Amino acid sequence: MSRLVVVSNRVALPGSNQNGGLAVALDAALRDSGGLWFGWSGKVARGHSGEIHEQHHDGIDYVTVDLSREDYEGYYNGFSNRTLWPLLHFRLDLVDYNAGTQAAYRATNALFAEKLAKRLRDDDIIWVHDYHLLPLGQELRKRGVRARIGFFLHVPFPSADIVAGLPNHEKTFGALTAYDLVGFQTERDLERFQDYMRLFGGGRVEGRGDVRGQDGRHVRADAFPIGIDTRAMEALAEHALRIPSIKRMHASLNGRLLALGVDRLDYSKGLPERFRAFERFLEKYPDMHGKLTYLQIAPVSRGGVASYRALRRELEQFAGHLNGAHAAPDWTPVRYVNRTYPHVTLTGLYRLARVGLVTPLRDGMNLVAKEYIAAQDPQDPGVLVLSIFAGAARELDGALLVNPFDSDGVADAIATAATMPVEERRERWQSLITRLRDYDIHAWRRDFLDNLAATPQRQAEG
Ligand code: G6P
Repeated sequence: MSRLVVVSNRVALPGSNQNGGLAVALDAALRDSGGLWFGWSGKVARGHSGEIHEQHHDGIDYVTVDLSREDYEGYYNGFSNRTLWPLLHFRLDLVDYNAGTQAAYRATNALFAEKLAKRLRDDDIIWVHDYHLLPLGQELRKRGVRARIGFFLHVPFPSADIVAGLPNHEKTFGALTAYDLVGFQTERDLERFQDYMRLFGGGRVEGRGDVRGQDGRHVRADAFPIGIDTRAMEALAEHALRIPSIKRMHASLNGRLLALGVDRLDYSKGLPERFRAFERFLEKYPDMHGKLTYLQIAPVSRGGVASYRALRRELEQFAGHLNGAHAAPDWTPVRYVNRTYPHVTLTGLYRLARVGLVTPLRDGMNLVAKEYIAAQDPQDPGVLVLSIFAGAARELDGALLVNPFDSDGVADAIATAATMPVEERRERWQSLITRLRDYDIHAWRRDFLDNLAATPQRQAEG
């Protein structure tokens, strides 16, 4: 069996408390075949980039690299999060392009490739993750790596004209043809990638998922909608109700219904739009006053980027305004919290919530939507209000699907969810959970890796 090598910007080091679904799935995959997990150490060094940290745990080698302050600013805060993130989330207006950060992004990918290439064997299976590492495959090929390399994009692939708005876009996106398999979250992302390659990437689409790049290289592309560890989540949710913080939360609701949102504090998540919709809900449904509390958990994210800091200020003001205008002495409509919580606590909150609010303006998949469903009580499940612009909407069509830009529509969906009879809630939940059990995170990674293993091995290049 081939060794699996996973490469991602963030590495879930043993004991680092990253127990999200992806970390669990990759960990399981790496343990199955023995493997190596490679990426950034999360550390910013005083001097140069490149110091390596190695550890071995449970059959897995972890190799991470420190970045200098300059590379961290250019590669991570700069090109990854100020340029690519907004671009990939359809926000050309927020794209901050700078040739210097683009060069730092490329140089950091080259540095990762240099450190990794010498640890690789021809029969390894290499799996690269997400937008921080788009050109990593190309950099590995330049260093003579012949092993199969797959790439999975966790975020959306936007419309071709948006990608073409990025100066030198072909340098970054054309590099995808160095991979043997490129995975997207949904069929739409795959179609938009094909459009881009055909219209602006100088390539050719020879069939669905069969793409030839400008350089003549052939790449397979397909949709692999990422899942969660559904069974584990279902079991955890029952247990989570018994932890003290969830018992306290339950008591504090005082019999009121809970509407819950859990999102990184990111403009792609549509939080001001959601607050606006909640305000419309309060205006349109006065009989619901005092009957429902909305808890928004929004851990602060990427504070080194100005647009994230501006969003934080905006939401603080908005939450204050909502409560100032609508609260009663014995009822606070919005509880807004910026802290990070352990996975088990979030799971307990999902279980308590009658309404799950997942209304991003754009999202590759959104695993909160899936985890919310898996955490419900089968006898008395809550209702998911889900944006049509989340990748998850494709599979979770038993949710109440909304357009997050339509505050009246979202307000109505909150009211419908809060008053939905239990029979309809059960029926909708049953269809949703069936899909999540059938194609869970383990099925996802097997699907991707089987497809990657089936691609023909390359001859040495460059
Ligand atoms: C998204 C990205 C991930 C990223 C995560 C957290 O889910 O797809 O690649 O790790 O956000 O963002 P951060 O910048 O803190 O790694």
